[in-house]
Amino acid sequence: MRTFGRTGKLQVAESASLSKPPENKKDTELSIDHVEKGGDGRTSQHLECVCYGLGPFSSCVSARFQLAMLLLLLDAGQIPPKDCSVYDPAFTSGERDVLKELGLTVLTENEEGKRSATKPTLFYLMHCGKALYNNLLWKNWSTQRLPLMIIIGNSFNGMRDRAIEREFKRDYRYISQAVDVCEERALPCPSRLIDVFSDTAVITFPSSSLNKLPQSTWTEPHEPQYQHCPDLEIIQREALS
Ligand SMILES: C[S@@+](CC[C@H](N)C(=O)[O-])C[C@H]1O[C@@H](n2cnc3c(N)ncnc32)[C@H](O)[C@@H]1O
Repeated sequence: MRTFGRTGKLQVAESASLSKPPENKKDTELSIDHVEKGGDGRTSQHLECVCYGLGPFSSCVSARFQLAMLLLLLDAGQIPPKDCSVYDPAFTSGERDVLKELGLTVLTENEEGKRSATKPTLFYLMHCGKALYNNLLWKNWSTQRLPLMIIIGNSFNGMRDRAIEREFKRDYRYISQAVDVCEERALPCPSRLIDVFSDTAVITFPSSSLNKLPQSTWTEPHEPQYQHCPDLEIIQREALS
């Protein structure tokens, strides 16, 4: 596997704002103050990581690069590998063994992305289907939970721009509402790695933006069903059994 030097690590970390505060830091809940440890006397809040949809990295070079980036992010954010849960129904048993060998926590259950962020959590979803993001947002659909999340994944603005508006609002209700209130910072992508890191952003949910939405936004969030989606890009629980 390709290795990255110290400079590469810093570039990745800075791009992801794990080692550098965003410009409007005051307005963003998760920044260096939350992840940096030791040295300057500040108390740090421990960050967890969840990675869905990495892909079959033994046969797919993009997934391999994305795995390398995940390891760099854990390093930059000083997140112990055991605090990073990974799941993809496409993993082979050999791949699961490699991930365990790297110290990561390999989930055995298909959560369909429906994971509650009960503490500050970095979600790493590279080139995943919209339903996975939509499920994740649904599960954390409150002004308390969303600010606990950093998502590194596909740009929500990009998803909206490429979709048919009516279908996007109907099928991916949570993304379509979040796109107006989230903060997205595009990750720079070298042209030779377009297949690996294109359309990738760091997405956060500043409380100040969420609080501008009417209260009705948050009441009784219905679990997404996707009956109308012929091209659903998620493997659901039922489909596995
Ligand atoms: C478009 S592929 C992206 C793979 C890789 N990240 C890449 O960029 O080449 C989407 C991935 O999401 C995975 N996936 C589908 N349903 C999932 C689920 N319920 N939980 C986690 N991953 C899922 C698929 O198996 C697939 O590997």
